[in-house]
Amino acid sequence: MLVPMSCPHLSDDDAAAVDAVLRTPYLSNGPRIEEFERDFAEYVHTPHSVAVSSGTAGLHLAVIAASVDKGDLVITTPFSFVASANCVLYERGIPVFVDIDPVTLNVDPALLAAAAGDLASGRRAARRWLPPTVRASASRRGALRALLPVHVFGQPADMGPICAVAERHGLVVIEDACEAIGAEHEGRKAGTLGDVGVFAFYPNKQMTTGEGGMIVTSREDWAALFRSLRNQGRDVFDEWLEHSRLGYNYRMDEMSAALGLAQLSRIEQLLAKREQVAAWYNQRLGALDGVSIPCLAPTTNRMSWFVYVVRLAPEIDRTMVMTRLSERGVPSRPYFSPIHLQPFYRERFGYEEGCFPVTESVARSTLALPFYGNMGQEQVEYVCEALRESIP
Ligand SMILES: Cc1ncc(COP(=O)(O)O)c(C=O)c1O
Repeated sequence: MLVPMSCPHLSDDDAAAVDAVLRTPYLSNGPRIEEFERDFAEYVHTPHSVAVSSGTAGLHLAVIAASVDKGDLVITTPFSFVASANCVLYERGIPVFVDIDPVTLNVDPALLAAAAGDLASGRRAARRWLPPTVRASASRRGALRALLPVHVFGQPADMGPICAVAERHGLVVIEDACEAIGAEHEGRKAGTLGDVGVFAFYPNKQMTTGEGGMIVTSREDWAALFRSLRNQGRDVFDEWLEHSRLGYNYRMDEMSAALGLAQLSRIEQLLAKREQVAAWYNQRLGALDGVSIPCLAPTTNRMSWFVYVVRLAPEIDRTMVMTRLSERGVPSRPYFSPIHLQPFYRERFGYEEGCFPVTESVARSTLALPFYGNMGQEQVEYVCEALRESIP
């Protein structure tokens, strides 16, 4: 049996929705974008949604709205997809990493509070939170501007203490909810708990638009700013060739928006199918020696299953397990590789192994298994059996 790593859940209705757009002259800047934004805002209970060309583009615009400028600091997690830190670099800011909670795999709120306290006050102790090359450099640093928690693998970060820290120090909270559509934290939807939240719709996500993302905020001025920035800096009153500010082409096209609308109309079904697949995995792997299944925090009312990631006991050789799985037609991934150990982060900021021990030990042990909504019980059984056989 060959099992894919991930697979979008596409229907005839999805195809018909995209096809219908192709029979109109409106392939961009048309009515589907507005409908998609309206329905998305309603789904996550937020006043404003702004569709963009990717999650990365959305994060970049959120960082601009937070007024991050040269040398400014943004506290975030090293255990994420690289885009959640790169977006700070796009504005010449400095991502300040703090380590994670070993159970939820999200940023540790106590460490985040300690770092924010030191960095906001400019105390000498603040230096210890900075990347090694920044610590050593004499050039002036900017201000601490924002906190950027990531809802890793679809589980919300502990937003209560994070938002309290932001309030105490006057910081913006940017939620990277790219993996967490539909997740709920203490009864509220992930992405709507901070000042601005960003979702992503790449084909491996819970719902897809091909490429695409969505920014949500309750601030009307920021929603207007995002609409201008995504559209080459045009303001609503600008003519087509007038540009009030430096902008980007981060627009989502009408075909993507039509697909997004169709997928969003059955989002509960898409999430429920993934939850069922995760439950099958949990049942079969819960008692397997050497394997730990994902843990939910007490504050997580609802996990939005993006990937299914187990952790292997430290004595198990993960590379060997992956090879054996692959020989049985089962792909797997070591998910995530820490951001601070990516080659250009090492080079630019002087990071090395040992800087974030919890992140590094988690990253050495994780194994993402094939996971998608259409996965059948037999496929889950096959993967679990292959994993059992692959562990010595
Ligand atoms: C946590 C996280 N942040 C940001 C992104 C970037 O989204 P996109 O690929 O749509 O640019 C992703 C997507 O994989 C992600 O998982």
